Amino acid sequence: MSVLPAAKKFLRVLDGEALFPPPIWLMRQAGRYLPEYRELRAKTPSFLDFCYSPKIAAEATLQPIRRFGFDAAILFSDILVVPDALGQKVRFEVNEGPRLEPILTDEAFAKLNDEIDLGRLEPVFETITRIREALSPETALIGFCGAPWTVASYMVAGRGTPDQGPARLLAYREPDLFLRLIDRLVDASIRYLCRQIDAGVEAVQIFDTWAGVLPAGEFERWCLAPTQAIVAGVKSRHPDVRIIGFPKGVGPRLVSFADQTGVDAVGLDSAVDPAWAASALSSGRAVQGNLDPLALIAGGAALETATRNILEAFRGRPHVFNLGHGVTPQTPVENVAALVDLVRRGGRR
Ligand code: CP3
Repeated sequence: MSVLPAAKKFLRVLDGEALFPPPIWLMRQAGRYLPEYRELRAKTPSFLDFCYSPKIAAEATLQPIRRFGFDAAILFSDILVVPDALGQKVRFEVNEGPRLEPILTDEAFAKLNDEIDLGRLEPVFETITRIREALSPETALIGFCGAPWTVASYMVAGRGTPDQGPARLLAYREPDLFLRLIDRLVDASIRYLCRQIDAGVEAVQIFDTWAGVLPAGEFERWCLAPTQAIVAGVKSRHPDVRIIGFPKGVGPRLVSFADQTGVDAVGLDSAVDPAWAASALSSGRAVQGNLDPLALIAGGAALETATRNILEAFRGRPHVFNLGHGVTPQTPVENVAALVDLVRRGGRR
C-alpha cells in the first residue's frame, strides 16, 4: 500500500524532501512585535491566564498566519506551563520574566507532583483543537515543549539567569537530585507532547535554549540523553509524528545531537555557519534555521544577503527556513513581510 505524501510543505521537508523555495515559519512569530498581539495581550494581564484561555491563545497563534501566511503555525503557549502542571507555582513579572519558587533541595523537589497534571493543561489542548479548525489545509500546526535541561534551569533558579549557574551548580553538587528532576521532566514532556499530538499538532519542537552552556560530559547527560528519551517515548506512541530538536548554542555537537537523539530535524542557531552545517550533517537530515533575528530587525541589504546565504547553503537538502532564535519585540513588522516574500521568491528580487 502506498502512503500518500503529506501535502503540507513543512511536513514534506521534515519527512526528508528538499523543496525550493523552502517552507518558512519563525520562532516566536506570535508576540509583542505585532500590534494585534499587544492589543489582545493588554486585555489579559496575567501571561499564564492568557496561555490558558483557548480562544485568546488560538487567536494569538493565528495572527501571524493571517498576516504573513507562514507554512506552519506554532501553538501559542510557553515552556513553563510544564512546571506549573507539576505543581510549581509560575508567574510572569511584567518586563522581568518568569518567577518560580526555586527547587534546590530534596524537600522542595518532594513537593512536585509525581506526574504532570494534564487536566490543568486541558485549555492548551482545547486551544490546539480550535487552531486546527481554523487553519487552512496547507498550514501545519507545531506543538512544543522545553527540553528538560532548559526547563530545569528555570525550575532550579526560579527565574531566567545569564548563565544558568544555579542549575549547573546543582547538577554538580547534587547529581542524584538533579537527575530525578530531569527524569520527572522527561516523563512529563512525553505525556504532554503525546497529548498535544492527540489534540491535533502534526509536529513538535523541543526547545533547548540553554544547551550551549553545558561542557561535553554534562551535555551528554542533561541534553542528549533526555532528548533521546523523549523522542523514543513519543515515537513509541506516535511513530509518524515529526520531531524537531533545537539545542541552541552547541556548535559542532549538533552532529552527535542529530545522530543520537532520533529527531527528524535539527534547529540551527544563528552562530552556526550554514555552509558548515550543510557539509557536517548527513545530507538526508532536515535542518531548520538560521537567520540572525538582528538581521531581521536591521532589514534591507543585511537581511537580503544573510537570507540568500542560508537559502543557497541548504538548497538541495531538506530545509525549513526560520530564524536562529525568536523574533524580538523590536522587529519591524514590514521586515517580516519582506523576509517571507524574499524566501518565497527563492532569494530573487
Ligand atoms: O510564537 C511562538 O513561538 C509560540 C509561543 C512561545 C512563547 N514562548 C511565547 C511567549 C514559545 C514557543 C515560547 C518558548 C519559550 N519560553 C522558551 C524557549 C524558546 C526561547 O525563546 O528561547 C523559553 C526559554 C521561554 C521562557 C520565557 N517565556 C521567558 C524567559 C519569558 C519572558 C521573556 C520575554 O520574552 O518576555 C517568556 C514569556 C513569553 N513567552 C512571551 C511570549 C510571547 C512574552 C510574554 C508577554 O507577552 O508579555
